[in-house]
Amino acid sequence: MSEYQAVKGTRDIFPEEVAQWRYVEEIVHTLSTLCGFSEIRTPVFEYTELFQRGIGPTTDIVGKEMFSFLPDPKGRSVTLRPEMTAGVMRAALQKKLFSLAPLHKLYYIGELFRKERPQAGRQRQFSQFGAELLGVSSPAAVAEVITLMMQVFESLGLTGLKLRINTLGDTEDRLRYREALQLYFSPFQEILDDASKERLEKNPLRILDSKNPAVQELVAGAPRLYDYLKASSLQDFEKVLFYLAEREIAYVIDHRLVRGLDYYSHTAFEVSSAELGAQDAIGGGGRYDGLARELGSSADVPASGFAVGMERLLITMEKQGLFAALHPHGPHVYVVVQQQELADHALQITWQLRKAGIKSEMDLAGRSMKAQMRDANRIRASYVLFVGTMEYSTGLYSLKNLATSRQTTLSLEALLQFLQEVAVKEQPAL
Ligand code: HAM
Repeated sequence: MSEYQAVKGTRDIFPEEVAQWRYVEEIVHTLSTLCGFSEIRTPVFEYTELFQRGIGPTTDIVGKEMFSFLPDPKGRSVTLRPEMTAGVMRAALQKKLFSLAPLHKLYYIGELFRKERPQAGRQRQFSQFGAELLGVSSPAAVAEVITLMMQVFESLGLTGLKLRINTLGDTEDRLRYREALQLYFSPFQEILDDASKERLEKNPLRILDSKNPAVQELVAGAPRLYDYLKASSLQDFEKVLFYLAEREIAYVIDHRLVRGLDYYSHTAFEVSSAELGAQDAIGGGGRYDGLARELGSSADVPASGFAVGMERLLITMEKQGLFAALHPHGPHVYVVVQQQELADHALQITWQLRKAGIKSEMDLAGRSMKAQMRDANRIRASYVLFVGTMEYSTGLYSLKNLATSRQTTLSLEALLQFLQEVAVKEQPAL
């Protein structure tokens, strides 16, 4: 073992797991494209103020979880992105996308960084896939992003996920509610912890998110935002629920759901998985009509979106046994050399197979036939192709199917054709 270990809160993803990631990513690309979203890739770091303004100065992310640094002594502070939404909106505004068309549908898969205490399902470097629908403010738009997220879950075969949904109203609704919360919590100074007292001043909605059991007890009796919504906000929410019901997407209304980022207005949602333990949120999102203005836009850019944690998604899939059916692309041929003097000839055949698009492998260390067979089984090859003096002189090669132990002898040309046909049949259906 080397004296170096991966940094706390980060992890390596080895080839077997990469296959699982690529399988999920493929489905994300296919379904996002199907629903009219195009992929965007933004930088891994941004100016720190983007997140301070975008996510909100009183949130945990901005308050204590950002990896910020000075790129040079006189430079402006930059931060490794803790989420994607602010960067995507920044990119769209910078590129003046809204002068070209009013509506933009973007999706992404990328790495994020948060200085959280690492535990199962919580890392300091993690990945999300997500989508942002920019430029329109409507229940149909919110329903569209929720539907895409749920469709990805469904296509992956996930079951037992719980979608919780709430409305946070508009700025006016929240101002009235904020006052009601301050009135309600103020007499309980002795029960409130320091963080909650600070929140009471700056952002009382955050108290609803407190993990402190004593504060949670108070929260149970607190006024509900729902009772402070104006009629148009209520109608907006009901329309979102109507679309979900129409698409047979099951949800639970949760009046206490506030989410950890400040940019939301109206609908907010979160999906949890019973398979995950303490960190059970697999994804979340909502509408964020005020973010563009917060980032300095002179025009309103209403928007909505979601993000799903890839690691938590993969843990849930593993626990539900959803990777069992994953099989490698095409037949995997291991070329076994019977006499070492034919190794160069075997190499040539291996390259011919690869040129024909057939995944193939051979031993490069001059090992015994027995060792080569062991290797073929270890890498779970589908076929073994034998190269010996007989094959060399006749031009007829024996191909053994390792699963059935059946063996056939074919000319090289027939062999290539046969393996190409098998490869086509074995492409996993997405
Ligand atoms: P978020 O709820 O902060 O939302 O993160 C979304 C998902 O990322 C979480 O549900 C979780 O699965 C995963 N996640 C978050 N932190 C960690 C971590 N430390 N380790 C592993 N997984 C984690 C957002 O980021 C918003 N930008 C979502 C959004 C998009 N809202 C509108 N558009």
